[in-house]
Amino acid sequence: MMKTDLAMGLIRVTESAALRASKWMGKGNKIAADQAAVDGMEKAFGLMPIRGTVVIGEGELDEAPMLYIGQQVGIGDDDMPEMDIAVDPLEGTTLIAKGHPNATSVLAMGPKGSLFHAPDMYMKKIAAGPGAKGVIDINKSPKENILSVARALNKPVEELTIMVQERERHDYIIRDAREVGARVKLFGDGDVAAVLACGFEETGVDLMMGTGGAPEGVISAAAIKCLGGDMQAQLVPMNEGEANRCREMGIEDVTKVLMISDLIKSEDVYFAATAITDCDLLKGVIYNKNEYAKTHSIVMRSSTETIRFVETIHNLKKSNLID
Ligand code: FBP
Repeated sequence: MMKTDLAMGLIRVTESAALRASKWMGKGNKIAADQAAVDGMEKAFGLMPIRGTVVIGEGELDEAPMLYIGQQVGIGDDDMPEMDIAVDPLEGTTLIAKGHPNATSVLAMGPKGSLFHAPDMYMKKIAAGPGAKGVIDINKSPKENILSVARALNKPVEELTIMVQERERHDYIIRDAREVGARVKLFGDGDVAAVLACGFEETGVDLMMGTGGAPEGVISAAAIKCLGGDMQAQLVPMNEGEANRCREMGIEDVTKVLMISDLIKSEDVYFAATAITDCDLLKGVIYNKNEYAKTHSIVMRSSTETIRFVETIHNLKKSNLID
């Protein structure tokens, strides 16, 4: 296990992305918001004492000039740890453009080789907090999973809350949940925030099910790993091209069920998130009188199971996380 704790440095990275993206809230321009987040994140990574490699990022080098897959980040001295990094500087681009809740800046980091190299395609996911560890099964119906989780948590099913992304492809989940009488919380975008909410009793959220981005799936898995919860996933290639892409990336059995140990292959990973707009767990960026901004973040490390909630006041004139 690494002696240095990199958690506080990571918070600066997601804070920097969130602060910059937050200026674009409600302005209808998701591209500019994303670019601002990417700029902020890349700049803040420059101060991290690591030899980092982006394994999940904005795309391949020919698609993305910053935070591309394979990019080296961090100070990079020989004696610094080699880390793999998965980033989503703005998770929920549409949300920020519209000023809707659930937009975050998120990342996962672990020793070299520890993060599943997810291609940019869909992934089916099911996630729950520590109380439901060992009872979820992606091969079972939503109904069976809901009932198992209710039993494990010792809750009447009517009190169980399930996060589902509002998409037609999830109608079968919503139907099952309603049939057994569970509470459903539909969200527009941002399934990392939805998975994160499952890990904390105070959110009232118990289970997340649905199909979303595979990169977001790996980042969510790092959060669940740190929280001692459970998650399973399965890549959903939509055509032969996507299936081939998986094979090129070394994934032979493309639709294999991925357990948390397949997604996160180390006992020492980090997860960090800063809310841009309000989420179930964290409040979004708040501005005050052109003097300061306040951010709310979480950073966790799986090996020590430390969970830090960080509320930061940034002086808008002095902070080097904003410019
Ligand atoms: P973006 O930040 O790339 O817009 O992704 C937001 C998101 O809602 C993810 O949280 C989720 O995994 C994915 O999109 C779902 O994809 P789709 O919008 O195609 O249903």
